[in-house]
Amino acid sequence: MSAMAKEYNAINLSQGFPDFDSPALLTDLVYAYMKKGYNQYAPMPGLPALREQLAQKITRLYPSCTPNADTEITITAGGTQAIYTAITALVHAADEVIVLEPCYDCYVPAIQLCGAVPVYVSLQPPQYRVPWQEVRSKITAKTRMIIINTPHNPTGSVFTAQDMAELQNITSGTDILVLSDEVYEHVIFDDQLHESILRYPDLYARSIAVFSFGKTFHNTGWKVGYAVAPPYLTAEIRKVHQYLVFSVNTPVQYALAEYLQNPEHYLTLPEFYRQKRDLFLQLIQGSRFKPLHTSGSYFQLLDYSAIANHKDTDFAVWLTQQVGVAAIPVSVFYHQPHTVQDKLLRFCFAKKDQTLEQAAQKLLKL
Ligand SMILES: Cc1ncc(COP(=O)(O)O)c(C=O)c1O
Repeated sequence: MSAMAKEYNAINLSQGFPDFDSPALLTDLVYAYMKKGYNQYAPMPGLPALREQLAQKITRLYPSCTPNADTEITITAGGTQAIYTAITALVHAADEVIVLEPCYDCYVPAIQLCGAVPVYVSLQPPQYRVPWQEVRSKITAKTRMIIINTPHNPTGSVFTAQDMAELQNITSGTDILVLSDEVYEHVIFDDQLHESILRYPDLYARSIAVFSFGKTFHNTGWKVGYAVAPPYLTAEIRKVHQYLVFSVNTPVQYALAEYLQNPEHYLTLPEFYRQKRDLFLQLIQGSRFKPLHTSGSYFQLLDYSAIANHKDTDFAVWLTQQVGVAAIPVSVFYHQPHTVQDKLLRFCFAKKDQTLEQAAQKLLKL
């Protein structure tokens, strides 16, 4: 959709990246470390200073979790590599992995490349809650992993304490691992608590949590993230990490280690994005799009059923080419997109206010 947005000169609210800059101080730090000569390979697990900062950040945010920077935190080339590496290291041929859909697109190919089998459970619209009874019914002796994602892409739903209790119940007494995709950890609204897997010691003991600096510091193109997992899982993850990428961008790691000493940026991120969400909603008020509720992430689902009866993929193409606004059809986040009847598009509101205003003007005309 980004390529089509470019071709048709449409406003791009499709792909999930900001159209504003990473903090100037952070960019300056990267440049300064480059100039100082920090340009060679970093240690395989990541720069110790960065892992130490992350260990402190984690304990500040989730006090029951005190990860050892040496044995539990690995710096990766973005959340995607952390996810791929964790799946490749821990899932084997013929294993089953429970995937809640709609879901981010990198989980299933990684599972399939391992020769494992994705087992799908649909989240329940319009709130996109997890049907835990159904999840329970899909557990077999072959279930190796459950993948969760909160705050959720594409729906903007978030896990509650009740969800975590259900997950704990279901996995307790089993060998099932949990892969917890938390790249939108700091993009959560309305005073809700981010229910990180790291808050729950019993769950953390069987989990890999994945994070992305790109989502937090507005630099998705730098592709730096990290995985947090207990030592026995981290040891396996690093065996793959070592031969997949070996190590991650050195000056960026130095810069992040220094920048993280001040928590202000990530602590103010929920309010920063709440304003964006509310601005976008206010701007499209009076249009024929019907918004669903977004509790977290920087995505807003809009129902267009009052405007057209087209399949979402067709409507998204029409909207980009004829109206000049690009968004993502929600059906593509399902393994069988053709079966999805919902009339929903995902709009990314991680954009300058001016971009959102220009897009809304076009949407209001429909
Ligand atoms: C839910 C989710 N997980 C993982 C990622 C990948 O993160 P990164 O860009 O750091 O690889 C994304 C990016 O859009 C995402 O939305």
